[in-house]
Amino acid sequence: MSENQQALNHVVSMEDLTVDQVMKLIKRGIEFKNGVQLPYENKPIVSNLFFEDSTRTHKSFEVAEIKLGLERLDFDVKTSSVNKGETLYDTILTLSALGVDVCVIRHPEVDYYRELIASPSITTSIINGGDGSGQHPSQSLLDLMTIYEEFGHFEGLKVAIAGDLDHSRVAKSNMQILKRLGAELFFAGPEEWRSQEFADYGQFVTIDEIVDQVDVLMLLRVQHERHESGAVFSKEDYHAQHGLNQERYNRLKETAIIMHPAPVNRDVEIADHLVEAPKSRIVQQMTNGVFVRMAILESVLASRNANENTRR
Ligand code: CP
Repeated sequence: MSENQQALNHVVSMEDLTVDQVMKLIKRGIEFKNGVQLPYENKPIVSNLFFEDSTRTHKSFEVAEIKLGLERLDFDVKTSSVNKGETLYDTILTLSALGVDVCVIRHPEVDYYRELIASPSITTSIINGGDGSGQHPSQSLLDLMTIYEEFGHFEGLKVAIAGDLDHSRVAKSNMQILKRLGAELFFAGPEEWRSQEFADYGQFVTIDEIVDQVDVLMLLRVQHERHESGAVFSKEDYHAQHGLNQERYNRLKETAIIMHPAPVNRDVEIADHLVEAPKSRIVQQMTNGVFVRMAILESVLASRNANENTRR
């Protein structure tokens, strides 16, 4: 088994992936988008466990699983023994004992996956669908696939990540890998929502200082649900000071693209009429999510297969 396969027993954080693994997943995602088919004969079982709300991540993992021909075991948090006090560890220990091969998990606790992947009793592979304000590797990979499709490289690209930085797992996942891939990073948005950890990866700027220079403007959702003391800004004030309006859109370079992980707060991070504007890749990001998640599932299952063969 190669080192690449070994490391993809789980996909929980962009920090754990090598640049080589990231590039292989992006290129495999593009191959799936171009129509590569991969039916599994022995039907591995995947279960998607979402302890936080989700439309894109949950449903695109489901579509990816359908397209790969995998068996899906439904798991509804609301009707499970989680409501009787079952811990996440015990839920995953149970699914592992039942023979589930892969669990895709979204959970509000940062780093929830650490005790799961460290446990010798849990043999199920873990794919992190988002841990609180920690990591969101599948979102990061679909963002990278979208940038790669546009520019064909990352080296030297100017990328501004703008908005609710502190609460964003998307910002954290992307800043780490984009820096390793050679992009130049800028961070914009309210000072109240930016901690010093971002300074290790790029410069703090205002959206007005950077909008005419960037190749990629990556807007972030204002995460009201993670703000302990309510919104600091009215929607109108946020949009005026930090959002993408028509005037700022007009200042973007001809070749620049706009991204947003969605769901979008329309007329807050981005003007309603710009969500589907020519420079927007927001819909393409959602589409790419299916294909990059197919690539992630394929890699994790290949790694499990290789481990199985080694044990025989
Ligand atoms: N971008 C994203 O993670 O969206 P969902 O919360 O709808 O999955």
